[in-house]
Amino acid sequence: MQRIAIVGMGQIARSQHLPTILADKDFSLTAVVNPVALPDALDIPLFPNFDALLASDVAVDAIAICTPPVFHYEIARCALKAGLHVLLEKPPTLTVSETLELARIAKEQQRTLFTAWHSKFAAALPMTKSILREHDFSAMSITWQESNEKWHPHANWFWDCVGFGAFDAGINALSIVVSVIDKPIFFKSAELNIQRQRQAPVSAHVAFSFPDPEMTAEGYFDCGYQGQNETWTIEWKLKNDAKLLLSEGGALLQYDGETLFKLPEIGPSSLNQEYPAIYRRFSDLISQGISEIDTTTLQLVTDILAYGKRTYEA
Ligand SMILES: NC(=O)c1ccc[n+]([C@@H]2O[C@H](COP(=O)([O-])OP(=O)(O)OC[C@H]3O[C@@H](n4cnc5c(N)ncnc54)[C@H](O)[C@@H]3O)[C@@H](O)[C@H]2O)c1
Repeated sequence: MQRIAIVGMGQIARSQHLPTILADKDFSLTAVVNPVALPDALDIPLFPNFDALLASDVAVDAIAICTPPVFHYEIARCALKAGLHVLLEKPPTLTVSETLELARIAKEQQRTLFTAWHSKFAAALPMTKSILREHDFSAMSITWQESNEKWHPHANWFWDCVGFGAFDAGINALSIVVSVIDKPIFFKSAELNIQRQRQAPVSAHVAFSFPDPEMTAEGYFDCGYQGQNETWTIEWKLKNDAKLLLSEGGALLQYDGETLFKLPEIGPSSLNQEYPAIYRRFSDLISQGISEIDTTTLQLVTDILAYGKRTYEA
């Protein structure tokens, strides 16, 4: 049984990490770290910052870092140095170099570091991967549009230059892509649309390339969407001319219009299936004494944010 603390008790920690940990027999929640008081009292010690937890006599073996991304690296670094296993919410850190440094420290300390990309645990991914392996594809199109006001009404950190904007959600699509396609994918070009007084893009059109110049891919990412049709889809034109459509963030898979896989409950509740799988994996990694570190998705997004052409709304 791992004694675990949640660091950053915001939206995703409350809706997913907390209930998942409480239901998982391999973990026991022993502390919570959050700089501001929580709306409802939990019967667990609460610390205002991670240093205060480390200085206390509350014993923990592992932490789940669920703060805004800008804080992930420093908290993870201190935790690994203190001999704790670390689960990082996505995006693992702001930069690839920070994640690689954490990987080095985890190895040195013989502790588990887990970059927990939750969309990689979406239910339809194994079947998607096997179809793409069998038929390969010639074109790919991503549409990831949702309302930030609806899902993250108070998360102002979203819009900082270290907040990822449309790619806070869009990075999930790319984590799916890198886990189901069997080939390297590169940034080619991007147009980033930035609203007044903000630094991270609200929407972006992105073109990708592959080692095979005949293959094409594009993506539209929009977290300022106001309509009724929020969309989280990835579509592939297969080399046998069929269309493979992964939608609902990875909960529904269709092949030429025929449903191959559908999670009984789709929508935001699809996450209810992803997080238990994340904690199973974290527990397995700890018991095997290994880490799981994936920087490919983060690299793709930092390339987009570094080289995309910026347009500022008037
Ligand atoms: N909200 C989602 O739907 C969702 C889904 C999957 C992953 N994520 C990821 O989870 C992370 C958090 O997102 P969120 O939406 O829950 O954000 P949030 O703003 O709702 O919550 C962040 C929490 O971290 C706390 N915090 C800030 N600085 C801290 C620090 N130094 N130490 C400890 N706690 C600190 C804040 O007080 C807040 O309670 C991000 O990396 C995000 O990309 C969010």
